[in-house]
Amino acid sequence: MLKTTITVLALVSYIVAQECVMMADGSYDASTLTHQTRPWKTPIMLTGPAQEALKFVCPTINSTKPVCCNSTQLVDLQTNFIAIDIGFGTTCPSCAVSLKRMFCDFACSPEQSHFVKIESLKSTNYVATAQFATTTKFQSELWESCKDTGIGPFKNRVLYGNVENFLSTLVRIRRPDPNINFVFNTTGTYDGQSVPCETTCSCEYCVEACRNRKDLFHHMNKQ
Ligand SMILES: *[C@@H]1O[C@H](CO)[C@@H](O)[C@H](O)[C@H]1NC(C)=O
Ligand SMILES: *[C@@H]1O[C@H](CO)[C@@H](O)[C@H](O)[C@H]1NC(C)=O
Ligand SMILES: *[C@@H]1O[C@H](CO)[C@@H](O)[C@H](O)[C@H]1NC(C)=O
Repeated sequence: MLKTTITVLALVSYIVAQECVMMADGSYDASTLTHQTRPWKTPIMLTGPAQEALKFVCPTINSTKPVCCNSTQLVDLQTNFIAIDIGFGTTCPSCAVSLKRMFCDFACSPEQSHFVKIESLKSTNYVATAQFATTTKFQSELWESCKDTGIGPFKNRVLYGNVENFLSTLVRIRRPDPNINFVFNTTGTYDGQSVPCETTCSCEYCVEACRNRKDLFHHMNKQ
């Protein structure tokens, strides 16, 4: 049984093509003050300081394999992650961890072509907008991880209402280049992992954590 499972897994990872959609080339767009990306298919192997940066910024990405981001993007990710930690990680880190993992996969996963599509190009050869397709399962897990977090009383649930609005507003505020348009396809392909809030957060910022606490009280009362 175990042997069959391993064979099937090996087959699946063989079938999943390792292909990129875009990569930064180090150039700067003065009008948006951001680095630009251009269409790019082949994952690249990062070495030296860039590989170290990948390990540090995106610990869930395998840094010993070719990826779809380069040093330019890792610097930009790190800058954006500081903002994510401040905005979404102060009361309950699960949301920030989930968001950072999602953006690392978006930019660096060698399977980028499975969930990212170029929507439009700007000027000559640079990407203006890209679509990011996510599964409904991932969307609801991310929302579970994020809805009760926020700064003080301003919980994401109150500010954004739903996961579509949350993600769209988040990237609109940050105005990334290329712009990301989330595709909330029920058949979407990005099925990333979110961190359940009850693993890191208190009851105040995580409904699930309250439920566990009730279970605990219930359990203690029975003893
Ligand atoms: C990666 O970034 C560097 C700048 O550090 C840039 O010069 C290079 O062209 C980029 N690589 C690719 C494949 O675009
Ligand atoms: C990372 O990729 C290498 C090379 O393909 C592989 O040997 C290693 O098991 C991978 N590590 C993890 C944690 O998946
Ligand atoms: C979204 O779904 C439609 C049809 O279900 C599909 O044609 C389209 O390519 C999907 N978008 C992405 C970005 O995967």
